[in-house]
Amino acid sequence: MISIKVPCSTSNLGPGFDTLGLALDRYLHLSAEEAEQLRITVEGNGREHIATDATNLVHQAMVITAQKLGKPLPALHLHLKNGIPAYGGLGGSGAAIAGGVFLANEVLEGGLSKDDMLDVAVGIEGHPDNVSAALFGGLTINCFDAQRKVHCTSVRIGTALSVVACSPHFQVQTKEARKILPQQVPLKDAVTNIENAASLVAAMMNGNYEALRYVTAERLHEQYRATLIPGYADVKNAALEAGALSFNISGAGPTVFAFATADQQRIADAMVTAFRKNGQAATAEVMAVENTGAQLVTSR
Ligand code: HSE
Repeated sequence: MISIKVPCSTSNLGPGFDTLGLALDRYLHLSAEEAEQLRITVEGNGREHIATDATNLVHQAMVITAQKLGKPLPALHLHLKNGIPAYGGLGGSGAAIAGGVFLANEVLEGGLSKDDMLDVAVGIEGHPDNVSAALFGGLTINCFDAQRKVHCTSVRIGTALSVVACSPHFQVQTKEARKILPQQVPLKDAVTNIENAASLVAAMMNGNYEALRYVTAERLHEQYRATLIPGYADVKNAALEAGALSFNISGAGPTVFAFATADQQRIADAMVTAFRKNGQAATAEVMAVENTGAQLVTSR
């Protein structure tokens, strides 16, 4: 049996739309062993929504990876154990895709590097932020070259920084949350994102977490997506009043998150209470940055 684990992630981090990812310490565990025919079993978060036939996202990513390697994928028993909060916005599908690519490479002894795996995973997900964090861990900064090949820089982040993630109990489809975004933006909005994204990366690399108080502003997506999250403004105020350094939508939402170096549980409770006052049940978790990315747990 081969088993691996893949971290979840928050993406965008405010100003880094489709560019920045940050791996967090909740995991999708996957195992594979040869079987007579495809069998997929699932436990953990959101298991009732995870397909157990050939349309399963992990399996699909494995099939695509096998095709890229030019090797047939044997019939397998795949077991998924999901420790990633499943309401959306914490890179669950990115972890499934990155995990499928990583696992297929192990099963088929494909010899792919993580950079090769990223290419395959981005081909499936369409954008690199979550899949890069799932593969490499840490803070990932992604850029496409003129041939649309993605290049990822992964930076280790210190243990002083926490992410308080709060998921209201409803789903927002990423497709819908992308459809509502404008295709063109004013120059001053683009500049706001450039200055914040660059300053955010510098602050994270220098361990200057106090700067997170002013480097996560953004104008490309949150003002539109906030309309899909009832209570967004109240939850933001509550988190900041409780001591958060920042407040943003995680990925495409509806999970929101705060960076913090203190008062983590207070911030978590404040966000849940503010959602509840707006008629939304919510769950908050205090997470740490995960600096390893997808890894083998047991091999054969
Ligand atoms: N960067 C993506 C978005 C993350 O904001 O739509 C969600 O997959």
